[in-house]
Amino acid sequence: MTVRNLVLVTGLSLALVAGCSSNEQSSNDQNQADKTTEQPDESKEQNSTDKESTNNDSDQPNEDNASSDEDTNSQGGSDNQHAYPAMGETVAEENGKQIVTNPNSIYVVANKKRNLPSDFVPENLVEPNVPFYANDGDPKRLMVEEAAKALEIMFAAASKDGMQLKAVSGYRSYERQEAIFAYNADRYGAEKANRVSAHAGQSEHQTGLTMDISAPSLGGSLSEKFGSTPEGEWVAENAHKYGFVVRYLKGKEDITGYQYEPWHVRYVGKEASKEIHEAGITLEEFFAK
Ligand code: DAL
Ligand code: ZN
Repeated sequence: MTVRNLVLVTGLSLALVAGCSSNEQSSNDQNQADKTTEQPDESKEQNSTDKESTNNDSDQPNEDNASSDEDTNSQGGSDNQHAYPAMGETVAEENGKQIVTNPNSIYVVANKKRNLPSDFVPENLVEPNVPFYANDGDPKRLMVEEAAKALEIMFAAASKDGMQLKAVSGYRSYERQEAIFAYNADRYGAEKANRVSAHAGQSEHQTGLTMDISAPSLGGSLSEKFGSTPEGEWVAENAHKYGFVVRYLKGKEDITGYQYEPWHVRYVGKEASKEIHEAGITLEEFFAK
């Protein structure tokens, strides 16, 4: 069975139970990963968030290189900022919905106003060789190859700096995102669900360019607390060096449409990530016309 077929088959399944021990040790990482089943990844955090604070909590409910490869995979190239595609040029209306026309680009912008095609599945999904809080074979371990390689390099650099990053959730199918949103809406109400998880077709997890990251001190949960851990601070300061940006910034909720998610990194390639990081802006602002 090809990776793609595996994704299509397993992407339809849902495990709603998650259990994360907070006492994880490196020696039992695999056990830990086995216990940490999928979940509306974003919803288990929601739980802890609700207890800790009020509106400002982020957590959710749970659950692109600067080389010649990039030019092949990206629309618009990457020689300079003028080559980046403006959002208005990468969308077309279909049945009253705005559908992005560049879902395979490392510069794709998916959000509440810009949908990915419902049948879109990235063609080159691979599993990055990094520690995971996810079971072997789970499609959430997958990323687009270019992003997966960059993630490996970033995790290795973090490790050299003494940081224990662990990947939680990467690729999600349209169907899985649909199930996650439904779970969160049922559990927390539609309004809250809408601030912390995307409707199917609107999640950049479907692009394979994103990874949710946690740390052993958080037992693999995706929480706003990640932003205050050494690992979260390292990610915020260094992810751009490896082609990633923290996608949902604090204070930018009105622009992104989602609460602060320090754990959610998105691959855009090293050149764009550096510019975006230095400007302190969102993808919506960077790719605005
Ligand atoms: N939590 C982000 C917004 C997603 O569901 O894609
Ligand atoms: Zn995410």
